[in-house]
Amino acid sequence: MCARSRIPCDLHILGASIAARRWCYGKEGARKRSAAAGGAFGYPAGRVSITDSNSIAADLRDEGFAWASAQKLRALLPPAALRDWKSFAASWNDLGVDAYMADNGRYRRRRFGAFAVSAHGIVRKPHQPHYQSRDYNPMNGGIERWFQPLLDSIADHVTLRSIFEACFSTFQGLTPVASRPASWHVECHQFRIEARVGEQGKPTPEGLHRDGVDWVLVMLVARENIAEGVTSIHDTAQRLLGRFTLIEPLDSAFVDDSRVYHGVTPVVPINPTLPAFRDVLVVTFRRE
Ligand SMILES: [Fe+2]
Repeated sequence: MCARSRIPCDLHILGASIAARRWCYGKEGARKRSAAAGGAFGYPAGRVSITDSNSIAADLRDEGFAWASAQKLRALLPPAALRDWKSFAASWNDLGVDAYMADNGRYRRRRFGAFAVSAHGIVRKPHQPHYQSRDYNPMNGGIERWFQPLLDSIADHVTLRSIFEACFSTFQGLTPVASRPASWHVECHQFRIEARVGEQGKPTPEGLHRDGVDWVLVMLVARENIAEGVTSIHDTAQRLLGRFTLIEPLDSAFVDDSRVYHGVTPVVPINPTLPAFRDVLVVTFRRE
């Protein structure tokens, strides 16, 4: 086991005069760098950065979560993945209001899609409801929630497909061979949290939680005119393990959902007269 030291690092939130504090865990000694998982989806050796992909996988394995900068995420993806980032990110402008909010909030917009992902490829499943038990989501769980489906252009988008492939390589590689499913049930959520004066924009209205899956990726797509939105990671006794803010597009959090809780503080507008929102992509992998 690696010894850990906690080093505070100041990050500056875009356009805001406040600084978020990120707790980084320094690791003493050399980190074992095993060979990249590779193989599936035809990632030839060399297209995946050994250092960066292993850094994410090693943090996930050792800490139960990984904070990945946009730079690290880029290194994890093939070069073509971001060739049409503009259209991918712009699709967050066309999400439906989440009408299932138990707090009657209308600050969350979303689209949803389900997929089967395996070494043989990615297959979109028929549109279906999103379901979480109340054990995992006491606020909005316990019912089937039907959200607008992902647009076909996004479900087939090279960026999304590349992210699925990178997640598959990372998560499959961290799953013991005996427990690897023939196929992963993958759920994909596009979220926009809007911040308005008088109504908090809560990225995780259920508070500190687990999603009830095996693995989670939360990737920032955009932050527009907002402050706060600080992610924290806690162990199963809910002791703080790490705290960071996703600031740049592609900044990401990888989470081992069986080992840690996650939550995000509400976002607030910097300039209350202008639109303010936080766009994220959430991808979950569950054994099926
Ligand atoms: Fe979550």
